[in-house]
Amino acid sequence: MRLRLAAAVLLSAAAYYVYLPLPSGVSEPWKLMLLDALFRSFMQASDVAHALGLCHRVRLLDKMVSWVEVIEAHSCSAVHVTDSVLGGVPTRVFQPKRGKKLKRGVIYFHGGGWALCSARMRTYDLLCRKMAEELDAVVMSVDYRLVPEAVFPAQYHDALAASRAFLSPQVLERYSIDPERVCVSGDSAGGNLAAAVAQELGSDDSLTVKFKLQALIYPVLQALDFHTSSYQQNQAVPILYRPIMVRFWLQYLGADPSLEPLLLANNHSSLDQPALSAQTRSRLDWIALLPGERKKHFRPLVRATGSPEVVDKVPALMDVRAAPLLADQMVLGRTPKAYVMTCEFDVLRDDGLMYARRLRDAGVTVSSDHYEDGFHGCMVFSFLPMKSDVGQRSMNNYIRWLDQNL
Ligand SMILES: *[C@@H]1O[C@H](CO)[C@@H](O)[C@H](O)[C@H]1NC(C)=O
Repeated sequence: MRLRLAAAVLLSAAAYYVYLPLPSGVSEPWKLMLLDALFRSFMQASDVAHALGLCHRVRLLDKMVSWVEVIEAHSCSAVHVTDSVLGGVPTRVFQPKRGKKLKRGVIYFHGGGWALCSARMRTYDLLCRKMAEELDAVVMSVDYRLVPEAVFPAQYHDALAASRAFLSPQVLERYSIDPERVCVSGDSAGGNLAAAVAQELGSDDSLTVKFKLQALIYPVLQALDFHTSSYQQNQAVPILYRPIMVRFWLQYLGADPSLEPLLLANNHSSLDQPALSAQTRSRLDWIALLPGERKKHFRPLVRATGSPEVVDKVPALMDVRAAPLLADQMVLGRTPKAYVMTCEFDVLRDDGLMYARRLRDAGVTVSSDHYEDGFHGCMVFSFLPMKSDVGQRSMNNYIRWLDQNL
């Protein structure tokens, strides 16, 4: 009897911990709840370790994720896999064993808020392996440096150095990559790096080889408005809660973590902010840039007075290398043909939708792929045990687009 009671109490506690009211329409809510509970328990353990002064919260979180996920480079019957270095940056390389002599090429940047994850994780390893095999492409998955050891612009510089090396005649020749068929891609924070790299290299006239495509998976692209329609709608949707994204930004930009409430209140982009011109504001004006069905009933939060000193303290908030959505139309117009994936249940949805719109306005051909039942991270959680239906669909469509366009 006592045992049964204890079991019932434990089970209810577990259910209480796992259960989370989710918006209707999200793909397979129970799987998302379990994923969230796992992620939340890791976060909470990391917060405790941080509070006790044992280590930086990101360090422990990353250690736990790595412990569960990191795998050695091992080849399989179809793909040769090695750990190498690209432009001085550690990189896992996936080379198809069969297929044409001249391969397509993809450089990939993993997600994880510029602080977590690795190209050596099972999920990213499986994704790149699948891409290499199905696209008959050499895929290079880059392990750029992470928070807390590195902050902006280190991650960006690593991504750029690896990309320049990737496009060099020596690397293309060594791996038999067709210089006419190369793509830069990434998800989440990796999508941010891919977009920033595509802008920088698109405008670099000294390059002989240019990217043919950019493929951005639910990218994070701006840090001036944390009240876009999607930030409001999805602020409490796992796994990327609104405050977590703000924290990732502050860590990436090397800013004081105590600025979190200020950014959450949009005090850093108030109208008394002299550094923020009308032109800059127009580049993330979601009322003008989004279609009506995404704006819904949400209203922008623009404060008349805020904390105008913040942009001086954290100038990177305005830096296009950190926030590619702020780029000039001319720069956007020189970037390659684009694929932008967005998910309805994702705070970053509008970052992606606005970027797709701005690219189109600049004359770039854009394929927008929106998942009405998608959530942030779904594409990389499409392998067991977190395999979700929307994850698989989105991954297949992403690879199909590459196959048809690269
Ligand atoms: C935002 O700015 C207003 C006006 O300056 C100020 O009263 C408020 O305390 C600020 N909020 C935060 C969270 O810093």
